[in-house]
Amino acid sequence: MDLKQYITIVEDWPKPGIRFKDITSLMDNGAAYKYATDQIVEYAKQVEADIIVGPEARGFIIGCPVAYALGLGFAPVRKEGKLPREVIRAEYGLEYGKDVLTMHNDAIKPGQRVLITDDLLATGGTIEATINLVEQLGGIVVGCAFLIELTYLDGRDKLEGYEVRTLLQY
Ligand code: PRP
Repeated sequence: MDLKQYITIVEDWPKPGIRFKDITSLMDNGAAYKYATDQIVEYAKQVEADIIVGPEARGFIIGCPVAYALGLGFAPVRKEGKLPREVIRAEYGLEYGKDVLTMHNDAIKPGQRVLITDDLLATGGTIEATINLVEQLGGIVVGCAFLIELTYLDGRDKLEGYEVRTLLQY
């Protein structure tokens, strides 16, 4: 299946000059969403993941069905102030300033094999912070799976030494 046909390019959103890749037109097509999910399920099997981790919000859309399909757990990475118990933190750079991602400090057990999922690999900042969180807890990042990679932003450079799989490239 050619998944690209289900991605809608939105010109000049959220600001002029950006060609936004809208995944909602893939998600609301049952066959396309299942096909994309199945690809990542196969990858999760290959890397022998024990648990799936994804950053809010779109990382949940990709990761949760993979976890369900394999009967694995899903551990959410959230922006600061959203998780109710004790958290660990990782800062990451934005265009202007910094943001913080957090995870419950018992979300991953030391030695667990973790597959990280998200919809988009752009600059790689989000995923770098997510890897940092998993490793703080002693998890082993066995793979990173994305629906879309914006190759011109060179996010992969931040992921040297990690297994990366992307389904669509622009
Ligand atoms: C988007 C996207 C990825 C991230 C990719 O999330 O879903 O998580 O940006 O960008 P990067 O590789 O440059 O870090 P966003 O922070 O907009 O949050 P959302 O999913 O809650 O909209």
